[in-house]
Amino acid sequence: MRKVALTGDRPTGNLHLGHLAGSLRSRVEMQSSFDQYIMLADVQALTDYFENSRKVVDSILEVIADYLAVGLDPELSTIFIQSQIPELSELTMYYMNLVSLSRLERNPTVKAEIAQKKFGESVPAGFLCYPISQASDITAFKAEIVPVGEDQLPMIELSNEIVRRFNRIYHTNCLKESTAHLSKTTRLVGIDGKAKASKSLNNAIFLSDSAELVAQKVQTMYTDPGHIKISDPGNVEGNVVFAYLDAFHDNEEEISSLKKKYSQGGLGDTVLKSLLNDTLQKLLQPIREKRESLNKKDLLEICYVGTNKAKSVAQKTLYEVKSAIGINFFDKSLNRRN
Ligand code: TRP
Repeated sequence: MRKVALTGDRPTGNLHLGHLAGSLRSRVEMQSSFDQYIMLADVQALTDYFENSRKVVDSILEVIADYLAVGLDPELSTIFIQSQIPELSELTMYYMNLVSLSRLERNPTVKAEIAQKKFGESVPAGFLCYPISQASDITAFKAEIVPVGEDQLPMIELSNEIVRRFNRIYHTNCLKESTAHLSKTTRLVGIDGKAKASKSLNNAIFLSDSAELVAQKVQTMYTDPGHIKISDPGNVEGNVVFAYLDAFHDNEEEISSLKKKYSQGGLGDTVLKSLLNDTLQKLLQPIREKRESLNKKDLLEICYVGTNKAKSVAQKTLYEVKSAIGINFFDKSLNRRN
């Protein structure tokens, strides 16, 4: 039996190189050895995009296209849409009773997001509660492994608290605790060198960007403002071109000798940027071609099949949860199951 792994993305735009380095590559690797579920977390995205729902809706197929383009195989990975599985929302209702308001308010990731999003005094209840909904995602599939970034650790911790509390209160062991798997790669910096690559900061290279646009973005990449003449010694630390070469060039030795030369002086930004451009073009061309070969109907069909499969798993867990609480009224008396 393969272990169940679950990850999710909020569909709020196309995926970029930061996603490729941070999660997509490891998902492609994992799909052959894990029973992998990949969720389009549109319900979660709506907790802060509720007024901009069009963006979430329009991103769903784009993100699925990105998944397939990088090599996720729907035969090996179950790709599904959160909102189409109401069982997940139902679980959330039962879990909400097991979490205090102050516990939710203490979540460091949520706290940071609330500050960043400037909700002020009017934090939507749905937003504050999304970690509970995430616990439903994780437990519904009895995921053992949840590959995530560091910011998601508080979510896994809360999920495990809910599992223990539920099992204790209702004298059951139907819910399983999960373990976070931190991704090895650090966050990819944005092309401006200021923060992590992100859509909202407009500093990312997207998997769907044209060859011309990629070349243009590489041209504008932040290097070392003090490196003026080729003979000047340059800074490798904080140099975006090197950060991207580290993440995407496959010859480590070559890069480390370039770093040496750069810091001693004698290596120009133009040469470096041209090497990075070649590297990224080689990486992105097959992804772009695969992406362009996909049509809407096939993408919908793929997530329809995946969602149905995921739904039947979630239904089973919900049935166990309701049985433990004792609220499967009609099923029991009508003897519909087993
Ligand atoms: N909160 C995650 C993020 O912002 C997305 C997510 C939703 C998720 N449900 C999940 C991740 C379940 C792992 C497991 O990236």
